[in-house]
Amino acid sequence: MLKISDQDFQRMVKFVHQNFGIDLAKKRQLIESRLATTITSMGHQNFASYVDYITTTKNQADIDVLLNKLTTNYTYFMREKQHFDFFTNTILPYLTSTKKNKVLSIWSAGCSSGEEPYTLVMLMQDYLGSQASMWDTRLLATDISQRALSTATKGEYDIDALKDVPPHWKQNYFTSIPGTTKVSVTPKIKNNVIFRTFNLMHPIRFKIPFDVIFCRNVMIYFDQATKDALVQRFYQATNPGGYLLIGHSESVNRAAVPYEYIMPATYRKPL
Ligand SMILES: C[S@@+](CC[C@H](N)C(=O)[O-])C[C@H]1O[C@@H](n2cnc3c(N)ncnc32)[C@H](O)[C@@H]1O
Repeated sequence: MLKISDQDFQRMVKFVHQNFGIDLAKKRQLIESRLATTITSMGHQNFASYVDYITTTKNQADIDVLLNKLTTNYTYFMREKQHFDFFTNTILPYLTSTKKNKVLSIWSAGCSSGEEPYTLVMLMQDYLGSQASMWDTRLLATDISQRALSTATKGEYDIDALKDVPPHWKQNYFTSIPGTTKVSVTPKIKNNVIFRTFNLMHPIRFKIPFDVIFCRNVMIYFDQATKDALVQRFYQATNPGGYLLIGHSESVNRAAVPYEYIMPATYRKPL
């Protein structure tokens, strides 16, 4: 397998960190193992030539390949279920009793292959029931990985992926794909998710502030300064009384942002 020199490793770490926030300082083996075949097939003889190319190219497709290789897109339906219970039992009752415009503004930031945003839409459909059509429940779901987003947009999953979802969801929100072991998310659910490419290192310029931001298991790959700056941007983009939910192994540095701590991995912007 191709080996990366100390100097090229440092250049690569710096490039990925500055542009995408991801901290690869301790991931030398991961870089070598995940990129060796790709760079050879692109015609590079060694890492030096590839690093020269990738740090200067404007070719988004090649940058996408790099990001697809380096990002970890692991996710599943109902991951960290306590958040979804809190969403149903506390956040939705609060929002539906206070949002006069009947717009629920929710962002799944780092949505990977779509399980998290689809879960949220299904929860909203369940909660709102016959009132659902009176609400704008379209949810924004973003990621930097094109591979993850294309799986998400397709909305097709192996039947095994549904093992933790409530039984009635299998009936109401998925259809079997004949001749396969796969299921497809129904159009009604799909149409409520707006998938977009978005790099969380960039300024947040969406049209309206959010009532809830889910950014779970994304910041684990970022260093502290990058996390602090991102949480600061999330804070600016949150409505007063709105929530930020992060992964259970992550934390927010509350010296850097005035979110209130509600419970593990759950924060709120004061009203
Ligand atoms: C482990 S998945 C988390 C998926 C889901 N939120 C969950 O908790 O199961 C992390 C996602 O963050 C995305 N990601 C990493 N760095 C990013 C960045 N700078 N901007 C946007 N997304 C990023 C990755 O592509 C990946 O899909």
